[in-house]
Amino acid sequence: MYYSRIVATGSYLPEKVLTNHELEEMVDTSDDWIVERTGIRSRHIAAEGETASMLAEKAVRKAIEDSPVSLSDIDMIIVATTTGDLVMPCTAAILQDRLEVPGIPVFDVATACAGFIYGLSIADQFIRTGHMKTILVVGTEVMSSILDWTDRRTCVLFGDGAGVAILQRSEEPGILSTHIHADGSYNDILYVPSSLPGQFDAEKLPYVQMAGNKVFKFAVKALGDVVIEALAANDATKADIDWLIPHQANMRIITATAKKLGLPMERVIVTVETHGNTSAASVPLALDLAIRDGRVQRGQKILLEGFGGGLAWGSAFITY
Ligand code: UT7
Repeated sequence: MYYSRIVATGSYLPEKVLTNHELEEMVDTSDDWIVERTGIRSRHIAAEGETASMLAEKAVRKAIEDSPVSLSDIDMIIVATTTGDLVMPCTAAILQDRLEVPGIPVFDVATACAGFIYGLSIADQFIRTGHMKTILVVGTEVMSSILDWTDRRTCVLFGDGAGVAILQRSEEPGILSTHIHADGSYNDILYVPSSLPGQFDAEKLPYVQMAGNKVFKFAVKALGDVVIEALAANDATKADIDWLIPHQANMRIITATAKKLGLPMERVIVTVETHGNTSAASVPLALDLAIRDGRVQRGQKILLEGFGGGLAWGSAFITY
């Protein structure tokens, strides 16, 4: 039995920044409301024609550039996304072509904002069992493409971006545990109606639909529960956590999770203020940022959490 360990990370944010003040000109909202209810001040928005695979490619190249891993080492690509380039093939295949690494298996994971955690969990299983040595896990989103820009309840919340982690076989523990969950009976409180021609419904346009309050309540409980589950599985306590990197949907959810854990906010990585909710990209974006600015150091223990449409959620407890 082997361990898997994160050996490199990368991220990419599109150039265009959309501020709350600019949104005030677009819908009936205010900077005060958005900041108070979500903690978001600005988000990045992809340029016209800029797709999830393009953002992902930039993030991967950044990860590779700063690491001993080369593209030819990669044994599998897992892409977590809700906003893939095409219905078919999967975005992982388009990314594979961009990276020019033919032949290896590639696939997408469609568990929305929990997708990166699901991807880490899958990659960890393949490496632990000795089937593969090096796996690229990507979270990439162009959420701006599935937003109704006249709906103030959703369009102020999301942003675009990509984050990646490269996992590699290791003698020392890196990924200590992953736990993934879903409850499909809540599929109607956070969803995007179909845009497929055969299923297109003019009454239900293919934009994010969310019963914000219900999702909020579920998220606070589920994210609190996975923390307890992860600690118990590792015979650990909150004192063992150097950093919490939660899904970045809402500052109030992040604060509630930290409070439940008794973790001071200085030990929580927060990007929601300037990234908004980038769905599957939010956790790897925050991880890469905190590694590059020196907060996250080798040997530290980090708890990563994801939560989103499905509803789906999960955690990864790692030694970086
Ligand atoms: O990443 C996937 C997981 N997603 C989440 O975890 C998101 C979870 N939910 C949330 O973050 C919050 O529920 C929201 C930020 C989406 C909404 O915050 P809330 O405190 O739950 O507000 P609400 O939906 O209860 O709406 C309160 C009021 C409503 O007005 P009325 O009906 O009370 O008159 C809304 O119409 O705020 C109004 N409102 C807005 N006002 C100004 C909703 N959106 C806006 C807006 N600007 N952008």
